[in-house]
Amino acid sequence: MSVWPRAGFLATDDWLPALPVLLALRRRLAAIGFHTTAALPLPGNVLDLPLDVANARAFVRGRQNLFHHSALAGAYRRVLGHQNPEAVALHELLTLNRMLPRARVAELLSPRLLDELVDHGVFSEDEGIVESNIVAAVSGGRVYLADAPHLRDDPDYVYLGRSSFSPAGYLASIDWRPPRHSARAPRRMLDLGCGAGPAAVAAGAAGVEHVIGTDIVERCLRYARLNAALNGVDTTEFRYSDVLSAVEGDFDLIVSNAPCVWEELQQATFATGGADFGTALPVRMIREALGRLRPSGLMYVVMTAPIVDGDDYVVEAMRRACREHSVDVCIHPELAEYEVEQRSVLRRHKISSFIRYGVVIEFADRFSVSVGSSFDAMRYRTYGVRSRATRAAAALVRA
Ligand SMILES: C[S@@+](CC[C@H](N)C(=O)[O-])C[C@H]1O[C@@H](n2cnc3c(N)ncnc32)[C@H](O)[C@@H]1O
Repeated sequence: MSVWPRAGFLATDDWLPALPVLLALRRRLAAIGFHTTAALPLPGNVLDLPLDVANARAFVRGRQNLFHHSALAGAYRRVLGHQNPEAVALHELLTLNRMLPRARVAELLSPRLLDELVDHGVFSEDEGIVESNIVAAVSGGRVYLADAPHLRDDPDYVYLGRSSFSPAGYLASIDWRPPRHSARAPRRMLDLGCGAGPAAVAAGAAGVEHVIGTDIVERCLRYARLNAALNGVDTTEFRYSDVLSAVEGDFDLIVSNAPCVWEELQQATFATGGADFGTALPVRMIREALGRLRPSGLMYVVMTAPIVDGDDYVVEAMRRACREHSVDVCIHPELAEYEVEQRSVLRRHKISSFIRYGVVIEFADRFSVSVGSSFDAMRYRTYGVRSRATRAAAALVRA
């Protein structure tokens, strides 16, 4: 029953008529306190139990658990559901992308708003059951929309996931200003491959003076402009550009949640990073972007790379990307969650796993690459254990 987004929501540049309807949805979400659902982790299994130390702490403090897994997800939902049943029900429809009966959605939103959302292709309705074609995720009190996961095979699919919020999370932790940047000077920021615009919109909302988000997929730019409008950000510019081809000038902050899926393992246009295990495109992005980073600037890149024959391939990729510059590269393991089906391909290339990293790059006196750590790295390591255990269990069942 899903609509193919090319024929549906945000399929053309003529999407402005949908804006009042989505603003009405945004107001409804604000009125019921939808932002509280950011503290809800995703349903996981018993192997996620170690994560619940961090999940529970964040939940109690009303902080972000967005897209983290939990063995106790139902318990968190029940606790929040006692206080705010409407927010939890809409989280089910809009963030977990489960189908709900029409009568329930009409009750949550109003029959008229529901009909308008169906008319604009935001929701699909079939035999009294409603499915959302968008995913809505809350971060920093703002709501971001992108394509629902069931549209993933569309070549124009617009991604929003856990890694989308990593650049803004890091930059917020340094107050959106590189350590060596003058406190009075205005900041110029570039979000390379901005997708639905989570980093660029958050930067605009945080008061970064000049923000440009770029992408090569027009639907991404539409979503990014829509997300800026929904969150009252009108200072951020979004434009079409193949890496830096349509961008001029230098920047104090450059971020990229780069596409880095290895083509041999998965075909997904939004994420394909090309050769060298999917690092070719991110390496090209970093190399070109370094030429536009001001001497006092900072670059933050989310990147996925394999462990090859026991070595972190990300170190090799960073050497390729940065070798012409005197820079300090600090690599933080962020996520070990990348499950891939084709075990024979991995074995042939001596790859044990893929890990997602947050990479901080700053100009320095000499070239250095270090692998740092963080509290989150420990949390994310649990995902690695989880995926290995799941694979081992699957192998046992097959045997
Ligand atoms: C993994 S997605 C991340 C999107 C977004 N930054 C986020 O964090 O949610 C990678 C993005 O890079 C874009 N992209 C791929 N190749 C690109 C290129 N050559 N130039 C600019 N953007 C590109 C894709 O369209 C996609 O939106």
